[in-house]
Amino acid sequence: MNKTIGIGVTGGIAAYKIADLVSLLKKEGFEVIVMMTKAATKFITPLTLETLSGREVITDMWEEYSDFNVPHIDVAKEIDLLVIAPATANFIAKMACGIADDFLSTLFVANIAPVLIAPAMNTKMYENAIVQNNLAKLRDYGCNIIAPATGHLACNDIGKGRLPEVEDIFNEIKQILLLKKDLKGKTVMVNAGTTCEDIDPVRFIANRSSGKMGYCIAEEAIKRGANVILVSGKTTIDPPEGAKYIPVWSADEMCEVMQKYQADCDVIVGAAAVGDFKIADVAGQKLKKADQETDKLILELVGNPDILKALGQNKANKQVMVGFAAETNDIVENAKKKLETKNLDFIVANDVTQEGAGFGTDTNIVTLISRNGSIKSLPLMSKEGVAAAILDKVVDIITDL
Ligand code: C5P
Repeated sequence: MNKTIGIGVTGGIAAYKIADLVSLLKKEGFEVIVMMTKAATKFITPLTLETLSGREVITDMWEEYSDFNVPHIDVAKEIDLLVIAPATANFIAKMACGIADDFLSTLFVANIAPVLIAPAMNTKMYENAIVQNNLAKLRDYGCNIIAPATGHLACNDIGKGRLPEVEDIFNEIKQILLLKKDLKGKTVMVNAGTTCEDIDPVRFIANRSSGKMGYCIAEEAIKRGANVILVSGKTTIDPPEGAKYIPVWSADEMCEVMQKYQADCDVIVGAAAVGDFKIADVAGQKLKKADQETDKLILELVGNPDILKALGQNKANKQVMVGFAAETNDIVENAKKKLETKNLDFIVANDVTQEGAGFGTDTNIVTLISRNGSIKSLPLMSKEGVAAAILDKVVDIITDL
């Protein structure tokens, strides 16, 4: 890949890891221009990064560099992606406010290439509301942010704040370079996970959905520039950064939230495993053991709202709606019926009896069935890959509307 990556190194202990990143990028054929803040040069020498990148390292606004005439403008013109790694709390604040008081911050303001920011700092600093607000602001400006990893920190604390592995940053770089921002300005609402129906104050009915498929769709939509509303039932995974995250418990609650936001949405994806039934009368007190004589406890169930069907009835002309159909037999037939009843644009059908498909796995095998009759079967793919295929199709439909 013949692309030029600008790497801005700021003054955190993880700066030394950037040597490996530069080395990996060079090995993979990228051109690399390294820029360092003064503080970064305390952690790793410009000479190291100059040797690995094979180019002058820019550390000073006022120095002359033989490769560049007006360095902050020339670099901005040359790079295809700007990576700020590690990004300190101070530098994040400067970027969020547009302060341009050294070479790297001035370059950031002049830059028009996509940006990837890799924050790395102590957990308490990372979680500070000011830092989080600054990151949210940068995300709104279109910057990509790779979340720090959790683990042992240089200060001996354990928590979130480590610079992600160099390979993870590298993969993110490749993805951004390949990625189209084809959902920029669109609002995408995704539901995910299992709904929970209370039996009594301590027990509930749920299902095995991990929420992974819906979370992958939310994450992919964020990467493509969408504003994402993630309405999530119970899951065990962390919501992607950058989504408006609305946790819910029951199907009724999920339905109410989604109806509230429906009018704001360009795209709605129903990936949640919504329970079809709820308990008719939720007990106010914890139920006692089953009846001694019959050894039975009979619970009466009543139907839950069909959320997508309810939304489908109020679907705006230019709104794209996507549903899932987990089937065990007559997949295409059953999925087509659901597509009709729920007024969807297309449905993602999967045979949950197949190995590698459905609940709790990291992979899925799906068929995309459209309102216009087209049917596309995809091979076994990661859920990330399936999410990308679903959103490619959404973009095709939006473009034709
Ligand atoms: O009809 P079935 O439950 O198989 O349809 C699955 C699709 O409908 C999924 O997209 C699921 O999120 C959605 N659904 C719903 N409300 C329900 C049941 C399913 O929105 N009560």
